[in-house]
Amino acid sequence: MKSIAVLASGRGSNFQAVIDKITEGSINAEIICLITDNPDAYSIKRAVNAGIPAKVIDYRSFKSRDEYNISLCQAMKEINPDLFVLAGYMRLLDKKTAGEFKDRMINIHPALLPSFTGLHAQRQAIDYGVKIAGCTVHFVDEGMDSGPIILQRVVPVYFDDDEDTLAERILKEEHIALPEAVRLFCSDKIKINGKKVKIL
Ligand code: GRF
Repeated sequence: MKSIAVLASGRGSNFQAVIDKITEGSINAEIICLITDNPDAYSIKRAVNAGIPAKVIDYRSFKSRDEYNISLCQAMKEINPDLFVLAGYMRLLDKKTAGEFKDRMINIHPALLPSFTGLHAQRQAIDYGVKIAGCTVHFVDEGMDSGPIILQRVVPVYFDDDEDTLAERILKEEHIALPEAVRLFCSDKIKINGKKVKIL
C-alpha cells in the first residue's frame, strides 16, 4: 500500500475527493499527513474528520520565503511518503523542493495546460474567449505548472460564463481527475518518459 501526503492551502474539496475514494476502497493507499501553509484552511477540518494528522507550517510566521521553504522541505523529507499530492496548494514550490521530490509529486491545475498557468486560470480562460476549458493533473517539476501531464478532463465554456460558473464546472471534473491520477500512481500504472506520461 502506498503512503500519501497532501498539501492544501484552503477549502480542500480535492483533498476530500481523494479521501473519499480511499475510504470507499478504490485507491490502495493511506494518507499519512496533511500539510498546510494556512492555519485557517478548511482542509484541516477535513483531515481531523478523517483521522489524518495535520501539520500547519504557517507561511506568515516566517521571516522570509527562504526560511519557510527550508522548513517545508524539511517537514516533507521527514514525512517521506511515496506520493505528495498538491490539492489546491497555492504557493509555488522552490526549485530545490520541487527537484527533491521529482517524479513523486503531482498537482491539480484548473486549466488545460500548457494554457493558463498560475493563478486565476479560469478567469484567464474566460478572458481569452476559449470554447473549451478543463483541468490537468501533472507531475511537479521546477517550473510553474509545467511538469509531465498525467491526465486532463474537458468542459465546455459558455458565452454567459463568468469565473465562478466556469470554476464550478471545472471543479466537478477535478474531483474525478485527481483521485483517478492518484489511483493510477498507487497501482504503479504510470510511467514517465521525458515530458510524456504513459498510462500502463
Ligand atoms: C482548485 O480549483 C485547484 O485546481 C486549484 O485551487 C482550487 C482548490 O480547490 N489549484 P479545493 O481547495 O480543492 O476545494
